[in-house]
Amino acid sequence: MSERLPILYNKKPCYDIVFTKSFDELWDELNNLGCEKRRICIVTDSKVDELYGDCVFKLLDGKCLKTVKYAFPNGEENKNLDTVKEIYKFLIEEGFDRKDMLLALGGGVVGDTTGYVAATYLRGIDFVQVPTTLLSQADSSIGGKTGVDFDGYKNMVGAFKMPRLVYMNLDVLRTLDDRQFFSGFGEVMKHGLIKDSMFYEWLIENMYEICERDLDVLQEMLIRSCTVKKLVVEKDPTEQGERALLNFGHTVGHAIEKAKNFELFHGECVALGAVAAAYISWKREMISMEEYYEIRDMFVPFCLPISVDDIDPEEILRLTKSDKKMESGKIKFVLLKKIGKAVIDNTVTDEEILAAINEINFSEEDAHA
Ligand code: GLY
Repeated sequence: MSERLPILYNKKPCYDIVFTKSFDELWDELNNLGCEKRRICIVTDSKVDELYGDCVFKLLDGKCLKTVKYAFPNGEENKNLDTVKEIYKFLIEEGFDRKDMLLALGGGVVGDTTGYVAATYLRGIDFVQVPTTLLSQADSSIGGKTGVDFDGYKNMVGAFKMPRLVYMNLDVLRTLDDRQFFSGFGEVMKHGLIKDSMFYEWLIENMYEICERDLDVLQEMLIRSCTVKKLVVEKDPTEQGERALLNFGHTVGHAIEKAKNFELFHGECVALGAVAAAYISWKREMISMEEYYEIRDMFVPFCLPISVDDIDPEEILRLTKSDKKMESGKIKFVLLKKIGKAVIDNTVTDEEILAAINEINFSEEDAHA
């Protein structure tokens, strides 16, 4: 059965997240947004296009004013201003005006890029998110952060732009390869760790069904995960304060992602960054040693890395400092006060960061073995 979670913006209903197990209700949802009289451009990537492009196109074609599709090559390296420019050109050629609509069909790269086009084309055009990876369903499709990478820096150019709808067909999770599927747990676990210890316990209890991709269990997991995100983004939609808690694991994570030339998936880097942040929390005696090792080892059954090889700790530190999560020259680090409660801290020293990077540095572990 489908369920919905409304998201408020400035205390007013803004958009719904629909959790369902097929694309069957997509047209009805779009029709409720007046799409009968609007053009829709499905924006997707080459990989998702092969799997779902035709199916979604056929569902809309003939029902709205005009349906077109634009697919760009798959991969983080295409999340850039060149792709944005190509989409602008396509929309102009197809005669899209401000009343029309974009539909982002894909993972985080597609959602963030399409959202940025929607925020800027003709000073803003509506868009809906149809996320097709666990990572984008659990995190990136919600909360209105849009943007692209610039010069190798993650999400350096962007805008806040709320979608009109987030439509999650959970059945698509079955087609994800294992690595892509499990990568999403970096963000799911993050939500438990920063705000909801009961959800964290629930993840441990339901590990088997989750790994088996039981759709009912995945639906419950996503509703609980998205509820954490909902509570945070409703309070602080444009990241003036508390929303930065969602960056838990991202400070060191983004640096590893860049140092590794995006060979590791985002969720994998978030897991590594989360282990580093939990390590600093332990060393500061905010959490116990047992809690640290429990958190670290919790990533293992979800096939996420807890150490990485071939990294230069000094380079990771330098990249950590050039990430955009800085305030007045200080790194805004997110630490754990306990499982289920995160805090923002801008007093973390270079030595603490280096020690944490060494903790997850496989070569370092090896050398000590
Ligand atoms: N992914 C972090 C946020 O939405 O704020």
